Amino acid sequence: MKNKVISTLTAAALIASVVPVAVANAATADVKVNSVSALDSSTVKVSYTKKGKKYSTNVKTTKVIKHGATIVQFKLQGQSYSSKLKTPFVNKNYISALNHLEQADLAIVNGKKEDANQALSHANVFFSRLKTTEVSEAQYHALNQRIAQLQNALTALETPLTPSAQDPTVSGQKYELPALSYAFNALEPHIDALTMEIHHDRHHATYVTNLNHALEKYPQFFGQPIEQLISNLNAIPEDIRTAVRNNGGGHANHSMFWKIMAPNAGGNPTGAVAIAINRDFGSFQKFKDEFSAVASGRFGSGWAWLVVNKEGKLEVTSTANQDNPIMDGLKPILCIDVWEHAYYLNYQNKRASYIDAFFNVVNWDEVNRLLNEE
Ligand SMILES: [Fe+2]
Repeated sequence: MKNKVISTLTAAALIASVVPVAVANAATADVKVNSVSALDSSTVKVSYTKKGKKYSTNVKTTKVIKHGATIVQFKLQGQSYSSKLKTPFVNKNYISALNHLEQADLAIVNGKKEDANQALSHANVFFSRLKTTEVSEAQYHALNQRIAQLQNALTALETPLTPSAQDPTVSGQKYELPALSYAFNALEPHIDALTMEIHHDRHHATYVTNLNHALEKYPQFFGQPIEQLISNLNAIPEDIRTAVRNNGGGHANHSMFWKIMAPNAGGNPTGAVAIAINRDFGSFQKFKDEFSAVASGRFGSGWAWLVVNKEGKLEVTSTANQDNPIMDGLKPILCIDVWEHAYYLNYQNKRASYIDAFFNVVNWDEVNRLLNEE
């Protein structure tokens, strides 16, 4: 929860009530602080309005006073402010996640797999409740990494040491999280590094883990290309079909999405896809308008796509959840993830701004490769 503080007071009133400061000058008189949230003891996130426009920025605290309540002081636009925080800096979900990670670590060292598993799932629950605004970016990142490290350590503990010890009925390799071919921050400023990291390392990784888990009962499905697996869902036993549809779809969609984007990309389409877009939409702008409208209009979570339809023409479509056009016999060549997890940190609820930004990172070479692929 945000520590919303003194939301209706003007800068002058705040200063007058708490910090003895000289007269506010013309540049700061029209600044209105709307809320102050604690990130950690040295940084606060301040939302403010200036000349009718809203801003949000992280500022260093100049002083932290604790007696009963926590009071932070900071400077904004050359003026000093003081705010009382409703809750202290230490976040309960953060501390609980850390405590459970410690227990998991100890259990792994002692070879107690079940205890480690339980502690890790508790840590994951508290981590999922933790909002990125409640701790510093560094703390969030470190916690995320620690969970991944311990999960790997636990997996290693559970994996037989030699291939001969593996289940002989497994006909192929389990599905794996593909590595990104660029750094998390490579798509900035259009897609921010933290979104990329959480999206790839946690969301996509979870789809892969859950897909493998579902297929453990029917290991004959391991080893198929993921597109093949999800294109024929009727072949999947009914008791795991929904899990394969959601998690297999999630794995296929995200694997494609990471390649559809690239640093130093975007701009106008090139090659065969440029010709096909002009042929089937009239112009790139008309295609972009239609694609953006469909992506914006997808209710709830889902994806927007550019596909080759059964007549060989390009068409814009969208799917709910983690469904993929392959499931309907179409050939997807471009996609955008419009789940909130894909844009919320940077764009909050402004999906349209995220869609606009996405066009600055579209990797038209990959779109052409998919178009030309048999
Ligand atoms: Fe996603």
